[in-house]
Amino acid sequence: MFKSITVVPQGKAAVLVLGYFKGQGLDARATKKDVGGVMASALKRSEATGDVGSVVEAFPAGGFERVFLVGLGEMGKLEAGSFRSIAAAIGRKLVAVKAVSVQVDLASGMTACKLNAKACGKAFGEGLGLLGWACDQFKGSATKPEDKERRALAVSVEGSGFQGGLEQGLSLAASTNLTRTLSQSPPNVATTSFMAEQAKRVAKECGLSIKIWEGDALEKERFIGLINVGKASENKPCMIRLEYNPFGKEIPSGKKGQPIVLVGKTMTYDTGGLSLKINNGMVGMKRDKDGGCAVLGAMHAIATVIKPKKRVVALMAVAENSISDEAYRPDDVITYRNGVTVEVTNTDAEGRLVLADALCWACEKESPSCIVDLATLTGGVVVALGSTFCGMFCEDDELRARIEDAAKASGERVWRLPMHQEYRDMMKSPVADIVNSNANRKASPIQGAAFLSYFVSDGVPWCHLDIAGVHVSESNKGMFIDGPTGWGVRLLAEFVNS
Ligand code: BES
Ligand code: MN
Ligand code: ZN
Repeated sequence: MFKSITVVPQGKAAVLVLGYFKGQGLDARATKKDVGGVMASALKRSEATGDVGSVVEAFPAGGFERVFLVGLGEMGKLEAGSFRSIAAAIGRKLVAVKAVSVQVDLASGMTACKLNAKACGKAFGEGLGLLGWACDQFKGSATKPEDKERRALAVSVEGSGFQGGLEQGLSLAASTNLTRTLSQSPPNVATTSFMAEQAKRVAKECGLSIKIWEGDALEKERFIGLINVGKASENKPCMIRLEYNPFGKEIPSGKKGQPIVLVGKTMTYDTGGLSLKINNGMVGMKRDKDGGCAVLGAMHAIATVIKPKKRVVALMAVAENSISDEAYRPDDVITYRNGVTVEVTNTDAEGRLVLADALCWACEKESPSCIVDLATLTGGVVVALGSTFCGMFCEDDELRARIEDAAKASGERVWRLPMHQEYRDMMKSPVADIVNSNANRKASPIQGAAFLSYFVSDGVPWCHLDIAGVHVSESNKGMFIDGPTGWGVRLLAEFVNS
């Protein structure tokens, strides 16, 4: 919605933003600025409900062109996370009135609720930065120029804590927006090699090391899932490995040097393969790469914003699940590098096949302190949880607590789903070790997780996040428009920071 968002020192701005609590009227700080009493009378209007993110305008004489009085909800219920939706509401109103500069002073609301100014500023920056995203590179000559018009916004804020947080939040949003733009890119543009180029660009920009396996190198490392799933497409599969390493050559021995490994399903398109998707189920499958896109965005955030004192490795398993006479087929049996054999029963359960390569590799080669994978894995998780919670599978109590904390802090919600030996048994094959999908169609998100568990070594803390419900928004409200959410970037950044 904005061309850019810059933080500037306080000075002349078109709009002043002040907050007020439900049923509380103007606070002392605002009253001091209320020359002529126009703000106090604005709050008497019926639209001044005080609901979080509701905005009432007042027009004082001199100084600012206008004042936005933003509702902070009920006193005592305001939390740092509320500042995301507050920022989005203010941003939308700024766009509506075509304002290019704003001064935000929500200090008294934060003080009243004893909130941490930096955390509030960060949430505010995230909300504003995510709202600011637009991707019109695919709009052509039939779109009116005014529909593409976007303004550069200058933001100044009260308080250095809030400002520090704001800058960090805006940067996290920028990393997330990189993920969203990739998600939005169509499959004829965002091919497998395009994804590799994007990863190289990010690596160069942020000083990450990168290695890409393709062609014979995939064979050599026995990335058998990628080879098979990617077989039918002219866009060849690859495995991308990115590394953030703050230690240089002196990687500490023992626990300190073990990396967090992030794994992302990066299916540039999912036709279902020979088990072809039917009834328009294919539309939107350009976003089947969003796990990998989120991991890439998270690496960007880690290298540019978080800069932790620990190693982080990312593995993106990139392929296009297509059809041709060379396609892998239902009934094929494939053997993984850890020796596990898989009978392919459904070529549309392809995500788990490529994730298995990355999980095997991570356990065998990376000595991971933990593994977190993100994947648009099942339609079933959308049925179960909708777009409100991401499906989480994690049997390690400590890792799960850290993911849940990161979810709370980032506002990217996760809900634990169960694992049990009975589910793992459901994946057993009469022919090979396991099948990639049980035809009984029971508990499909859990089947996905149960399958993956065969590729994680005992003792490695592991969390699987099925993001199929949360990676895209269908409505234009709050900080998102209809389109990709970049889900996971901020959660992973928060997690790595913990
Ligand atoms: N990419 C899909 C899952 C998906 C569905 C993501 C809808 C987003 C929206 C995945 O590869 C898939 O096809 N899953 C199948 C698995 C089944 C064949 C066992 C599914 O969930 O139907
Ligand atoms: Mn599929
Ligand atoms: Zn898929």
